[in-house]
Amino acid sequence: MKHLIDIKDLSVEEIDELIKVAKDIMSNPEKYQEKCKYKKLATLFFEPSTRTRLSFEAAMMELGGNVIGFSSSNASSTAKGESVSDTIRTVGCYSDIIAMRHPKEGAPLVASEKSTVPIINAGDGGHNHPTQTLTDLLTIYSEKNRLDNLTIGLCGDLKFGRTVHSLITAMSRYKNIKFVLISPDELKIPDYVKEEILEKNNIEYIETNDIEEHMSKLDILYMTRVQRERFFNEEDYLRLKDYYILNNAKLKNAKKDLCIMHPLPRVNEISVEVDDDERACYFRQVLYGKFIRMALILKLLNIK
Ligand code: NCD
Repeated sequence: MKHLIDIKDLSVEEIDELIKVAKDIMSNPEKYQEKCKYKKLATLFFEPSTRTRLSFEAAMMELGGNVIGFSSSNASSTAKGESVSDTIRTVGCYSDIIAMRHPKEGAPLVASEKSTVPIINAGDGGHNHPTQTLTDLLTIYSEKNRLDNLTIGLCGDLKFGRTVHSLITAMSRYKNIKFVLISPDELKIPDYVKEEILEKNNIEYIETNDIEEHMSKLDILYMTRVQRERFFNEEDYLRLKDYYILNNAKLKNAKKDLCIMHPLPRVNEISVEVDDDERACYFRQVLYGKFIRMALILKLLNIK
């Protein structure tokens, strides 16, 4: 039985295969309509979500399966003091596969140790978010036609942004990837990502707090929200929340085929005027998320 806790649980070849299946689903959705008939996905969300939970649920429904779950810990026995392990053992009696999001780093890993069904990490605290990364990889592949030879700017909250940590981990396995890490000093990428991923794999990267400085070199600009829920004090959040606001003026030196991504939700970090720029990929990215999750569910349930 396979779980997806960290993006490295999938090899590059397995990711290629997931992208291939997702593309096939996009072109031939009718072929997949009954693949998960009589199967159930449980979505256990101990933290807020719109896209991740609903895209998992839509994905399972489009595969002909059913969905159960909860969207807040208050609505589950967690509020009575039940442990994650006990919740998972219980839900495994009712479902074939579980997608879970939890505010504590490592909670999905702990859950997977006790689970009788595959567990998918749908975000654990400020740590990882592998299915957002699969979404991002399908987006990059679809928009740029490659996953190698790319200069990727990551901008915003690189400290707490779990999507950033997983994306760097995944992209570091492809050839000739360079990163421009754009953040305020207080929200720089954590040392463990630098040491264990970037430096260990000899990946070229630059750290800066100026969003425009390297704009002309970027193939991808991945914007992120300042992660309010991870701050210890509100004053720091208020001071940093509008540090970057991407607008048309800031894009004046950008490449014509830049791909602007954002895992969403957006707060203020991309001005709505950018939405009309054809380089804004973030709403297409949302749709790719459903198809890659369909491919992932099929893989983890061993359905051909
Ligand atoms: C991201 C997350 O939950 O980490 N959202 C998502 O899953 N699309 C990004 C965020 O919340 O800022």
